[in-house]
Amino acid sequence: MNILGIESSCDETAAAVVKDGRFIQATVVASQIQVHHRYGGVVPELASRKHIEAIVPVLDQALIEARMSLRDIEAIAVTRGPGLVGALLVGFSFAKSLAYALGIPWVGVNHLAGHINSVFLEPDPPAFPYIAILVSGGHTSIYYVTDHTAAELMGQTRDDAVGEAFDKVAKMLGLGYPGGGVIDRLARDGDSAKINFPRSYLNKSTFDFSFSGIKTAVLRYITNHPQEFEEQIPDIAAGFQESVLEVLSYKAIRAAAEKGCDRIALVGGVAANSRLREKLSGDAGVKGIRVHIPAIHLCGDNAAMIAGVGYHYLKAGMISELRDDVFSRSK
Ligand code: KG4
Ligand code: ZN
Repeated sequence: MNILGIESSCDETAAAVVKDGRFIQATVVASQIQVHHRYGGVVPELASRKHIEAIVPVLDQALIEARMSLRDIEAIAVTRGPGLVGALLVGFSFAKSLAYALGIPWVGVNHLAGHINSVFLEPDPPAFPYIAILVSGGHTSIYYVTDHTAAELMGQTRDDAVGEAFDKVAKMLGLGYPGGGVIDRLARDGDSAKINFPRSYLNKSTFDFSFSGIKTAVLRYITNHPQEFEEQIPDIAAGFQESVLEVLSYKAIRAAAEKGCDRIALVGGVAANSRLREKLSGDAGVKGIRVHIPAIHLCGDNAAMIAGVGYHYLKAGMISELRDDVFSRSK
């Protein structure tokens, strides 16, 4: 079954065609980073307007890449939430109208379920149950995943998402927005042991996270070293990154141990981080746990993951209706 996926929850307008929930025929992402860059964050109103401009060209491009016409599309899956309501509404209304016009089924899916299932777009996906650690600009959560459409939330951040912490630290260091990728690159030339930033485990038995302390610690360091800090940026980046990643890796592995899982999926925009990919795979490998990580282009927001999980929603009989609406937060 060829499913068209559509994603517009934040600042990426994306369309993809995925066969049978696994095989990517085309995946196109139009990023709005250039638009939001100068504001240091996503401006919701601008995001909605840009989605309106991009949605038709992005769909056309996906069909060209898949060498298909709309007649070859058998169902549509679209992000329903969580995300920015104005942004979500563009993709959701578009998908709804297109499905109605084509007379095919459609389903609104949870964006987080898309990320959690993104490992199925790779060869040799994990068997159920597995632990998913979702790290992005909006979320930092650990799930016990028992099926494509069922995941138990084991813990999540109590303040900032980890990607948000990367972006804020990058801003403090004058590295621009979004800063996760820049910190990742700079940290490779730094020494993570030079500046010892705190590790925030909260209580070691909880799967919750907190990143506000480390953010404040970096700010304090910069304020206390106004002359030297610019030369130390690679060391600050490496120290901050290591402090955050150590906690993420520790908790993901502990969650796997608690549930008796030997598979972990690392997903979401921050899963693109080279040190996190290396560290979690290494730490988990020592314990006999295998880590599944999607290719970099499937870590950030994309529509292939929406089409992929949408297939399983539809197979489970979860078809949406015209009166259905988007939602901004997970219930
Ligand atoms: O999943 P995503 O594209 O959007 C959300 O749903 O939030 O994640 C975007 C986040 C941003 O905070 C960005 O700075 C971060 O992912 N990010 C990274 C890296 N690449 C993107 N963080 C750390 N290292 C990276 N290489
Ligand atoms: Zn996302």
